[in-house]
Amino acid sequence: MTVLVFGRTGQVAGALARRDEAVRLLGRHDADLEDPETCRAAIRAHPRATAVINAAAWTDVDGAEAHPARVNRINAAAPTAMAEEAAACGLPFLQISTDYVFSGTGSDANHPGDPTGPLSVYGQSKARAEEGIRAAGGAHVILRSSWVFSEYGSNFVTNMLRLSATRRSLNVVKDQIGGPTPADALAEACLTIIGALRATPGLSGTYHFAGQPDVSWADFARAIFREADAPVAVAGIPSAEYPTAAARPLNSRLDCSSTEATFGIVRPDWRTALSGTVAALADRAKERRGA
Ligand SMILES: NC(=O)c1ccc[n+]([C@@H]2O[C@H](COP(=O)([O-])OP(=O)(O)OC[C@H]3O[C@@H](n4cnc5c(N)ncnc54)[C@H](OP(=O)(O)O)[C@@H]3O)[C@@H](O)[C@H]2O)c1
Repeated sequence: MTVLVFGRTGQVAGALARRDEAVRLLGRHDADLEDPETCRAAIRAHPRATAVINAAAWTDVDGAEAHPARVNRINAAAPTAMAEEAAACGLPFLQISTDYVFSGTGSDANHPGDPTGPLSVYGQSKARAEEGIRAAGGAHVILRSSWVFSEYGSNFVTNMLRLSATRRSLNVVKDQIGGPTPADALAEACLTIIGALRATPGLSGTYHFAGQPDVSWADFARAIFREADAPVAVAGIPSAEYPTAAARPLNSRLDCSSTEATFGIVRPDWRTALSGTVAALADRAKERRGA
């Protein structure tokens, strides 16, 4: 199996490549998502590919608000073109989507079939991608995840640890609740799902995958500082007191039961992965200091 993965430099694409040597990463040189035609060409250029995963996206949620047309090209038109080309080539296609397609009212976990209602340009673009991919008509899985972290790139864990170098107290929102998801576990889920989809195209559909237990950003931050032995006091504040360019759902809980029932994939405990991530980042910092 040769799995084409868009998003070469991203944290999930990197985790995919580390998990499976059959993964062929595609970066901007292979396809610029601002020009969806280049995505079609990149798939056609790999006639031995057996599946396609899109792990590329404009992921700067606040920055997206000022660039809706560009973000929609990258996050909606490009994955739609990939899904159409994959369908034309008879390849299964997996798109990583997001909890931000939901409006996040109430406190029940969001099910895959629940109505979407994105609050931001980023969320709207990802919801539009979902529609385009379904309409493309090929074997596909839309896998919504949330709060992805790893030792690579810029994510909540790396950002909190960076801040801990200079801060002894931080305000962090306490009323947005979701499941932090280790990038490694998400990558493993993608590979399991794309393999199953290749064997059984009828499994096509929308699924959820997130780490457990669900937690607030404030409690996630406290867990990070505890794990890192960093003396930073976290004050939980309401989102209303932390204005951002993009609105975010308060309830990002994802019901992942259909993913477990269909593919046998269990929600990972993010606390276990967090200790590995923090340890890896500490080792790297030590190496830098020694160098
Ligand atoms: N991070 C989260 O918390 C989270 C939560 C839920 C869902 N997701 C979804 O999960 C997927 C992977 O996320 P991630 O955290 O791994 O993302 P990431 O680390 O921010 O990586 C994004 C990737 O997309 C590429 N990209 C952006 N614009 C591009 C363009 N115009 N042409 C070609 N490549 C482009 C980037 O390439 P460059 O390095 O060249 O810019 C990078 O490789 C995304 O679909 C995201 O929406 C993420």
